Amino acid sequence: MHVVMEYEVVIIGAGICGLATAIALHRKGIKTVVFERSETLRNTTGTAIFIRQNGMRALDQLGVAEPLRHMAIPVQREREVWLDKGRQKEIPIDGENLCLRRKHLIDTLYAALPPGTVKFGRQLESIKLDPNTAKHVLRFIDGSSIIAKVAIGCDGVNSVVAHFLKLKPLRMFSFGEIRGLTRYPSHSFGPEMACFMKSDNVVGRIPINDNLVSWYCKQPCVVQTDERIWKDPEVLRQSTLDMIGDYPQEIKEMIEKADANTLSIKHLRYRAPWDLLTDTFCKGTVTVAGDAMHVMAPFLGQGGSAGLEDAVVLARNMAQMGLDHNESGRRLATKCVGEAFELYVKQRRIRFFLLSLQSYLIGVLFGTPSRLRKLITIMLLAFLFRDPYGHIHYDCGGL
Ligand SMILES: Cc1cc2nc3c(=O)[nH]c(=O)nc-3n(C[C@H](O)[C@H](O)[C@H](O)COP(=O)(O)OP(=O)(O)OC[C@H]3O[C@@H](n4cnc5c(N)ncnc54)[C@H](O)[C@@H]3O)c2cc1C
Ligand SMILES: *[C@@H]1O[C@H](CO)[C@@H](O)[C@H](O)[C@H]1NC(C)=O
Ligand SMILES: *[C@@H]1O[C@H](CO)[C@@H](O)[C@H](O)[C@H]1NC(C)=O
Repeated sequence: MHVVMEYEVVIIGAGICGLATAIALHRKGIKTVVFERSETLRNTTGTAIFIRQNGMRALDQLGVAEPLRHMAIPVQREREVWLDKGRQKEIPIDGENLCLRRKHLIDTLYAALPPGTVKFGRQLESIKLDPNTAKHVLRFIDGSSIIAKVAIGCDGVNSVVAHFLKLKPLRMFSFGEIRGLTRYPSHSFGPEMACFMKSDNVVGRIPINDNLVSWYCKQPCVVQTDERIWKDPEVLRQSTLDMIGDYPQEIKEMIEKADANTLSIKHLRYRAPWDLLTDTFCKGTVTVAGDAMHVMAPFLGQGGSAGLEDAVVLARNMAQMGLDHNESGRRLATKCVGEAFELYVKQRRIRFFLLSLQSYLIGVLFGTPSRLRKLITIMLLAFLFRDPYGHIHYDCGGL
């Protein structure tokens, strides 16, 4: 007879959030299995990710911050340069902030898991609740199925689990973001991130270490540009250079010298902040975390860190409430897990709502040609986010 494997806790997706959630639960003594659609660990990506103090706190709770500290230099200040006006501002940065290569973060998280936790090449197709057993039947596109008591969707922007929870559809900004890494024999930018603005263009640069920098560049109206930028890095490089025109030589050189393998462009998707207030992020023993829950525009550089915070809060609640203790040991109780998930969503909602709202407003500011709309947005940002860096001081608490 065909035997369907049965699992207690299943995580969908081995991105930053899925791996972090598996580590957090593992540290709490809750065994998990992670199903990932790609055939191998997604550690070949060339891009970087900026992790600020709040994200470093979460990595500390997961017990993986230490090795990462040796892979990047702490960024200590920020410089904003308005090239048009010939004005600049220097902003000191609080706490510990590292720009990591994504590959290093993914590898470090993966190495912290018990071997065999991640099952590769398994793409989830659908979830169904079996009303008789109160368990979930997860079907994969290869036709196989498993049964899971608890399912956590960390499956990113096209989340199948979010679909099961009937979350509202995502939205998209009209512009995109181009990113790349550039290696120098030894650069002279020091531990400083910089942002260069000129009319509607924005180019940012963050050092990873003394040789390597990560940069990003706003791409207006991705829909109207040459199709080939999605496939050919040299076309992307040239279109980026054309776009920034007469930026200082140092910036143009950075883009000219960037490693072609690291050049990429992304559409910017987000969950509308107002949807985040009303969507139901858990149903029984199924919930979501990371981008599947709250994908946001990258202008605060907080999406990844928010996913790390989710992992800590989710595992803490599940360990505190989801386990039924008795003389003969502990087991996951369906009802308690459901309550733990509800508390998790409640504890996270305001946090990701505020992060999303702030990055959404910054996106509107970048994207709108209307001076009046720009002015209103600036006023709203100043009123709602008096300290624009307040979100960095957030502490998701202990595991
Ligand atoms: C341009 C840009 C710049 C950014 N910069 C920063 C930054 O500086 N700092 C920061 O903190 N954040 C940043 N972010 C956000 C950050 O990249 C994301 O929030 C983060 O990567 C999300 O991680 P995740 O694990 O939730 O999702 P993902 O990384 O999307 O992982 C989802 C995983 O699930 C797998 N999967 C998907 N569907 C299925 C399925 N059906 N079955 C099985 N597996 C599946 C995928 O293969 C993938 O491995 C940026 C985002 C963008 C677009
Ligand atoms: C990706 O991770 C796997 C598993 O840890 C490892 O074997 C492989 O060498 C890594 N690939 C790269 C390009 O670093
Ligand atoms: C106690 O836990 C075990 C599993 O560890 C379970 O089989 C048993 O039914 C539980 N007993 C009670 C009284 O809940």
